[in-house]
Amino acid sequence: MEKQSGITKETLLNLKEKLKAGVLPQWVLADRDMYDLEIKQVFGRTWQFLAHESELKEPGSYVTRWIANDPILLTKTKSGEIKAFLNSCTHRGTLLCTADSGKQKSFTCPFHGWTYNNEGDLVGIAVGNKVYGEEMNKEDWNLRPVPNVDSYQGMIFGNLDHKAESLSDYLGNMKWYLDMMLGRSDGGMEVQGSPQRYVVEANWKVTAENFESDPYHVQFTHKSSKELGIAPNDPFFPGHGHQVVLDNGHGINLVQLDDTGISPIPYQGMPESMWPMFQKNLNKEQNDMVKDTFFVGGVYPNLGFLQFTFPLLDSDNGFYNFLNFRVWRPLAPDKVEVWSWHLIDKDAPQEYKEKSYVSFLSTFGPSGLLEQDDAEIWSRVTQASNGIMAQDKDLSYNSFLNYLMGMDRVQPNEDFPGPGVAYPLCFLDTLSRSMHKRWIDLLLAETPVKEEVR
Ligand code: FES
Ligand code: FE
Repeated sequence: MEKQSGITKETLLNLKEKLKAGVLPQWVLADRDMYDLEIKQVFGRTWQFLAHESELKEPGSYVTRWIANDPILLTKTKSGEIKAFLNSCTHRGTLLCTADSGKQKSFTCPFHGWTYNNEGDLVGIAVGNKVYGEEMNKEDWNLRPVPNVDSYQGMIFGNLDHKAESLSDYLGNMKWYLDMMLGRSDGGMEVQGSPQRYVVEANWKVTAENFESDPYHVQFTHKSSKELGIAPNDPFFPGHGHQVVLDNGHGINLVQLDDTGISPIPYQGMPESMWPMFQKNLNKEQNDMVKDTFFVGGVYPNLGFLQFTFPLLDSDNGFYNFLNFRVWRPLAPDKVEVWSWHLIDKDAPQEYKEKSYVSFLSTFGPSGLLEQDDAEIWSRVTQASNGIMAQDKDLSYNSFLNYLMGMDRVQPNEDFPGPGVAYPLCFLDTLSRSMHKRWIDLLLAETPVKEEVR
């Protein structure tokens, strides 16, 4: 019997046609060959968020991170430069630094004791003279640098592709919205605590899409917050506002509460004393958005963000704003590690920062009210996508996912004041389709057509 192995170019072109018609087959959510191709073609070639500059405060600071399966060591050198290396000893490949973060001048491998400084230079070899003599040039065995490291508004990214476009080009018109989130205060933003990490049994595309482009789920998945009386009653409330499709699969939803009959909380509850600073640092269009909307979106493929506010129910009932950035790190076709950062303005009063952190933890921390709702659903998608019917590539069971919302029906708002193509509604699959189009284009790029296995 003729059997096809792997994902062929023809498979991908078929996916593209299906997506144009507003559907995707369900097998893409749990297929091993697809996952392996994604690691190479998507995660090996796109800019990946690694850390915020506030996590590397002083020379000697370091953090350890991952780009999918590549362990990364990020250091701040004596001169203040930030460097990124493969966190793997060049002797026999051991994971070099196992701590999450810290401050030190050098890193010694636990296997045979080779030592590197925080510039990545190999500076010590245990009994080197006796075992290698003069023959080995130490410089040939320095840590391997990540080919591209750059930052934007304090956000440090890395890219493993030697031929990558610049970070600035990659972010494109998303920069305007990142400026709005990260550039409103004189002192910028800072990370509170350490990134939260937890594993969810879900495919990375499910979590990324749910966060970046699916406000439609809010009224149902998070129904309990409506029942508790802390979210508006109108089931359409997260649909009001604009969904903005940006370059390279990036996008943002600007959810407008005043269309629901509820007055927005100005600047999401940030202290009034800070408002003039926001107005000074943002242009009028950005300021209007920051003042009246909350936003959720993503930098393709796997960096999600949310600027949100929530009342502290057991405290003073005040609303406390926070910015949450999160990376969906793929671990397996059905497993993702969530890395989630809480950010708040460095210039905010200390008491506000602490309450903002509690507001974040109680909603989108690992045990937060809203995060629990989402994580349960993400894993249910995976549970239901692994069987014979959902995994059938011949599609004889008609196992498709529906991306038809708003298709050919909702036109962009030409008067929208920000960059990108903005649709006057957030209950739309337009951004999801843009993300998945980008996904297929990345998978198709320079993909060899695989041989058929007989
Ligand atoms: Fe690191 Fe041998 S593997 S010193
Ligand atoms: Fe949610």
